[in-house]
Amino acid sequence: MHKNFILILDFGSQYTQLIARRVREMNVYCEIHPFNIPFEKILEFAPKGIIFSGSPSSVNSENAPVPNPKILELNVPVLGICYGLQLLGFFSKAKVGKATKKEFGKAELEILNTNSIFKGLEKFETVWMSHGDHVEEVPKGFSVIARTPNAPIAAIENLQKQVFGIQFHPEVVHTLSGAKILKNFVVDFCKAEQNWTSESFVETQIKKIRETVGNQKIICGLSGGVDSSVVAVLLHKAVGNQLTCIFVDHGLMRKNELEQVKATFSKHFKINVLYVDASENFLCKLAGVTEPEKKRKIIGNTFIEVFEETAKSLGTVDFLAQGTLYPDVIESVSFKGPSATIKTHHNVGGLPEKMKMKLIEPLRELFKDEVRAVGNELGLPKEVINRHPFPGPGLGIRILGEITKPKVRVLQEADAIFMEELKNSGEYEKIWQAGAVLLPVKSVGVMGDERTYENTLALRAVTSVDGMTADWAKIPYEVLAKISNRIINEVRGINRVVFDISSKPPATIEWE
Ligand code: XMP
Repeated sequence: MHKNFILILDFGSQYTQLIARRVREMNVYCEIHPFNIPFEKILEFAPKGIIFSGSPSSVNSENAPVPNPKILELNVPVLGICYGLQLLGFFSKAKVGKATKKEFGKAELEILNTNSIFKGLEKFETVWMSHGDHVEEVPKGFSVIARTPNAPIAAIENLQKQVFGIQFHPEVVHTLSGAKILKNFVVDFCKAEQNWTSESFVETQIKKIRETVGNQKIICGLSGGVDSSVVAVLLHKAVGNQLTCIFVDHGLMRKNELEQVKATFSKHFKINVLYVDASENFLCKLAGVTEPEKKRKIIGNTFIEVFEETAKSLGTVDFLAQGTLYPDVIESVSFKGPSATIKTHHNVGGLPEKMKMKLIEPLRELFKDEVRAVGNELGLPKEVINRHPFPGPGLGIRILGEITKPKVRVLQEADAIFMEELKNSGEYEKIWQAGAVLLPVKSVGVMGDERTYENTLALRAVTSVDGMTADWAKIPYEVLAKISNRIINEVRGINRVVFDISSKPPATIEWE
């Protein structure tokens, strides 16, 4: 249990995770919970402060999410953001009505009290608004501390009770001094200590893992991606050779991926890793299959089979470690959007029950960039830490249609050139994810004096925050030209390269 923590109650705002990010960025631990978590749970948490998120709802609607009002009697500082402010109004029976005009976007905030949560700010500040309702009367016991031309009650405080409400969103970057406002609340009023660092995380996790695992055995699936790599190194630091990692080679990895993983984990960190070459098995099962979801299922199930069999060969194993991250854990009222059900993303989720092992998820409190910071702290190489996400089924969902060994080889070569040139040009770091896609489309070309009739390769590169939405990356023409030129000249089997300029939605990142 964290002793020094800020509780964020989620009322469904699309920005709730951002509030948590901002609090963590000031090295203070925080957690997001649904607005209606049992009151006893809140007492148990004993938070240093509570933040109410925004919400798409209106406090006047029948099904409005309303927390237990006793929260306001806990003697713990409270900050209500947007809907959170309206809730403060609702609780003290002040009128909350529809704003004459929905306010969305930048607004100029005039601060009437540059002390308390606005300490250190200018008299006028740019803030980000996104609301349909607003508080029409100053709630009892509160005073107005800021206004905008459209919202005369843009921020309120009850200093004695240490309860604050702000109509705008301090968590989004468009509110230029937003981080400062949150820090004033969290540090000055909640008196939270700023001791949540990757160093302290590693220290406490190692201790915790040692206590949990004792002298028992633990296994961990290693994929070469950031999350499983960090888990592996962290566990190895904690329990050394009691850990065995399993790397299932499905034959659909990137070029040289296996060698890189071996160099990092076996040679450098000296971690026990079992490398299982199951590529023939996978390719055999995938022969003749063209339907994307069927491919995913075959790859996912075969992965579990191979993993399970390999684990069995180790005798009794007590624990299975997984790289689950905080965004997967948050039990939120926010709507996840439809993308979760568009493709079934395979993972090893079913394994622990099936194999009767206890689950260890040392990263389940972390956001992705915190995982990277921890990786850095643990001495993982930069190439591993900054690696783009790579799907579990690997190149299997980037070869449209049937997967064959020659096609895998062609795609590996083309993809390697794409990655190399992105890195050489400095574009790799600006891109969230990139990969090449082999299309089952043949077209005519000419090479030397010869006619060619070969496959088309699509380049996919996107910028994104979490993969839920994405924009196509604006790679400079000269870089694209070099990539295309090199691929057509160096990779036999491709005579045409195209660049995917679709955003998500409506397209998805992977083509299958
Ligand atoms: P889409 O294509 O849905 O991808 O826009 C969003 C993110 O998820 C990754 N992805 C997968 N990851 N197994 C995985 O582990 C899968 O089957 C899978 N399909 C897509 C994709 O690479 C992107 O990062």
